[in-house]
Amino acid sequence: MDNESASRVRHVACIGAGVIGGGWAAHFLARGYRVTAWDPAPDAAEKLRRLVDAAWPALTELGLAKHASRDNLTVADTLGEAVAEAEFVQESAPEDLALKQDLLAKIDAATPAGVVISSSTSGYPMTDMQTRCANPGRLVVGHPFNPPYLIPLVEVVGGESSEQWAVDFAAEFFEVAGKHVIKMDSEVPGFIANRLQEAIWREALHMVDNGEATVEQIDASITEGPGLRWPLLGPCLTFHLAGGEGGMAHMLDHFGPSLKSPWTRLEAPELTSELRDRMVDGCEEAAGGRSIPELVADRDKAVIAVMRAVNEVREAR
Ligand SMILES: NC(=O)c1ccc[n+]([C@@H]2O[C@H](COP(=O)([O-])OP(=O)(O)OC[C@H]3O[C@@H](n4cnc5c(N)ncnc54)[C@H](O)[C@@H]3O)[C@@H](O)[C@H]2O)c1
Repeated sequence: MDNESASRVRHVACIGAGVIGGGWAAHFLARGYRVTAWDPAPDAAEKLRRLVDAAWPALTELGLAKHASRDNLTVADTLGEAVAEAEFVQESAPEDLALKQDLLAKIDAATPAGVVISSSTSGYPMTDMQTRCANPGRLVVGHPFNPPYLIPLVEVVGGESSEQWAVDFAAEFFEVAGKHVIKMDSEVPGFIANRLQEAIWREALHMVDNGEATVEQIDASITEGPGLRWPLLGPCLTFHLAGGEGGMAHMLDHFGPSLKSPWTRLEAPELTSELRDRMVDGCEEAAGGRSIPELVADRDKAVIAVMRAVNEVREAR
C-alpha cells in the first residue's frame, strides 16, 4: 500500500473494545468509517455499544462526517472475521506484553497482506511487541489518549523491524481520520506524553504517600493552576513566558539553579495497599458523588469547550 491509499481506507478493525478500543470505534464511526470490532469478553458487544452511545452526543456536537452512523459498527464473533476486510487495524487489548506479542502475531496472521496494524499500547516499544509476527514490517504503535474520540493526539512510532512505509501510512491515515499525529523517529518507552504525565503522576503518588498533599489539593493545583495554560502553550512555551521579556533564556538563567533543588523525586513510590486506598478514597471524595458517566459527560463538554476556545485564539492570530 502507498500513502495515498491511506486516504482511501474505509474499513477499520478495532481489536479489543474496552475504554480505548471502544473510544477508537466511536471516533472512526463519527468520521464515517465502517468499523468491525472484536473482543473476547462475553459482555463486550453490549459495553461497546453503550460506550459509543455515550460518546455520540459529544461527537454530534463536534460535527459528524457525511454518512457517519452507528449502524456502521459490526461486532465480529472471531478475530479472523473482524480483520478479514479491514484496511487498517487498531489493537487495544490489555497492557500486558506477553498478551500483546501473542495477539499481534494472531492479528498479523489473519489480516490481509499489506494492511497496517497499529497498537494503542501506552508504553511498550513495538520492538518488544512484534517479536512473534511473521510480517513485523507492517506493525507500528499508534498511541492515543483517552478518550480517543475527543483527544486529537496520536503518537506514531515503529519498532526495529517496522518498515518506514508502514509508519508513514499510519501517520497519514490518522491525519486523514482527523487526528493530530506526532511521528516519532526513535522509540522511547512511554513515548512523549506519557513520560511527561508519568513524572507528574509519580510525584503526586509520593505526595499522597508522605501525607504532603491530598488528592483534592493535587488535582486543584493543576486544574486551577498550570493546567489552564497547557491547552495552548505546552510546558516549554509556558516557561518561555515565565522568563518575561527575556523569555526562555532569562527563565533558564533565573531558575536554572532550581533544577538542583529537591522539587521532584521521579522514582515511583512503592504502591502499597495503603497508598492505593488513599488514592481510591481521595478520588471518590473528589468526585463528590458524581458517577463515572456523569464525570465523562462533564469532561467531554469541557474538552470541547477548551478546544473551541483554543481554536478561536489560534484563528485570530
Ligand atoms: N485507558 C487509557 O487511558 C489508555 C490510554 C492510551 C492507551 N491505552 C492502551 O490501550 C490499551 C487498552 O487499554 P484500555 O484502557 O482500553 O483497557 P480495557 O481494560 O478498558 O480494555 C481492554 C479490552 O481488551 C479485551 N481483551 C482482553 N484480552 C484480549 C485479547 N486477547 N484480545 C483482544 N482483546 C482482549 C478486554 O475484554 C477489554 O474489553 C492498552 O494497551 C492501554 O495501555 C490506554
